[in-house]
Amino acid sequence: MSEQILILDFGSQFTQLIARRVRELNIYCEIHPFNKIPEITPDIKGVILSGSPYSVRDEGSPRVDMGLFRGKVPLLGVCYGAQLLAHTLGGEVKASKHREYGRAMLTHHSHSALLDTVSPITQVWMSHGDTIVSVPESFKIIGETDSVKVAAFHIEGEQTYGIQFHPEVTHSVEGKNILKNFVVDICGCAQDWTAASFVESTIADLKARLGNDKVVMALSGGVDSTVAASLVHHAIGKNLYCIFVDNGLLRKDEYESVLHSYLDMGLNIKGVDAKAHFYGVLAGLTDPEAKRKAIGKAFIDIFDQEAHLIEDVKWLGQGTIYPDVIESVSVKGPSATIKSHHNVGGLPDYMKLKIVEPLNTLFKDEVRAVGRTLELPEAILKRHPFPGPGLAIRILGDITAEKVAILQDVDAIFINGLKTRGLYDQVWQAGAMLLPIQSVGVMGDERTYERVVALRAVTSVDGMTADWAHLPYDFLADVSNEIINRVKGVNRVVYDISSKPPATIEWE
Ligand code: XMP
Repeated sequence: MSEQILILDFGSQFTQLIARRVRELNIYCEIHPFNKIPEITPDIKGVILSGSPYSVRDEGSPRVDMGLFRGKVPLLGVCYGAQLLAHTLGGEVKASKHREYGRAMLTHHSHSALLDTVSPITQVWMSHGDTIVSVPESFKIIGETDSVKVAAFHIEGEQTYGIQFHPEVTHSVEGKNILKNFVVDICGCAQDWTAASFVESTIADLKARLGNDKVVMALSGGVDSTVAASLVHHAIGKNLYCIFVDNGLLRKDEYESVLHSYLDMGLNIKGVDAKAHFYGVLAGLTDPEAKRKAIGKAFIDIFDQEAHLIEDVKWLGQGTIYPDVIESVSVKGPSATIKSHHNVGGLPDYMKLKIVEPLNTLFKDEVRAVGRTLELPEAILKRHPFPGPGLAIRILGDITAEKVAILQDVDAIFINGLKTRGLYDQVWQAGAMLLPIQSVGVMGDERTYERVVALRAVTSVDGMTADWAHLPYDFLADVSNEIINRVKGVNRVVYDISSKPPATIEWE
């Protein structure tokens, strides 16, 4: 990596957004927790201190040794970061009379490099309970709002700045411009980090790291594992051994079509039909976590068995992406897992493989951009997320091959309908649940007593929160008719109108 911005995280919910904005400017950046500061190497062109839920006045609130970077590289404190600069250097930070939340108008007259090119009066977004009330001599105030006198400052004689608002959120109308002034004009970054440059440098790195070693990798049909495999494949060709397991819990015909795409991409891939094994271990299990655990274990057993057939394999490839990495080292620690989410499951220790994760510095949309640069099929790049345990957590209760077949038919009608009506790309994720109840209906002159399915479609940005998708009624009516007419054993369709939280996306 030729140059980067270092973002020190003090625990703000917006820290990842700062990284997103910097990367949108084609500049690579990394987030590190405030208490694990990496060495300030020459490739680090600037440091940004994030916001925080803490107050600098609290004992035990996060602190850093500013001497590690202040005066050596340009520095920007955002919100808590700005307050920490003021507080540490002899200014005063007090609780605001009223907490500052929401929009405010920033006024500035001075010619500071940070606010240069920003309109003299511009809307910014505040979110803090503290405010800087006085600053040392060397601080030049470069921006204010009605209620905040020190909204932006510059420490004279050095390239250190502080702003008490959040430039990273879209409500700060010219926030991106302010960040650009910092990272481009003040830090001097070249803006040459693009999907294409990432592909080129990653393939070169992988070639150097992997040499003639063999890598084994499990593919799921999802975006992350596919893009990761494609990068490794470009670097080492047939020495990448891909394994795609049919666990019998995939969408209708998905195994065949995904396998086909992988072969088209030239991957050295082996499809493993393990349906019977999975149905065997799932037989009689009804508890969602028990099902997840059984599937995770079955997967590892099959993968392990297949990996052992490859002689002398040294590496395990994985499609881990950046949010997973940040989450696991974040200030707050790994967030509480309500469900045992993970796609591939841990590897048994005895395999002793080294791990290669070419996407572990990228956000999801960057992964897609890399996939496009690699010319991967759009069908894979735009595919909705799909849970690792697949249809098993969409069949409430125990799993049988017959139930899987019913749900696959229902799901296929729903998903194809979304695609045909141009709605697929508008929802973040969609699928169907097979409920463990039966309901009365009439078909012709007959009373029926058959299964109920629930359709679920949500809009979301990251799956952490979600709203139910407001799909057109006539579309839902058509899909419902088609399901009831065509899928034997189903006589009722309902649509899930719960948002997350408090509901979750999946029903189990
Ligand atoms: P929930 O149901 O928690 O789902 O709102 C959020 C996202 O995670 C997916 N999900 C899973 N993915 N293994 C996975 O790999 C799991 O056990 C699992 N459970 C839920 C879900 O599909 C949604 O995208």
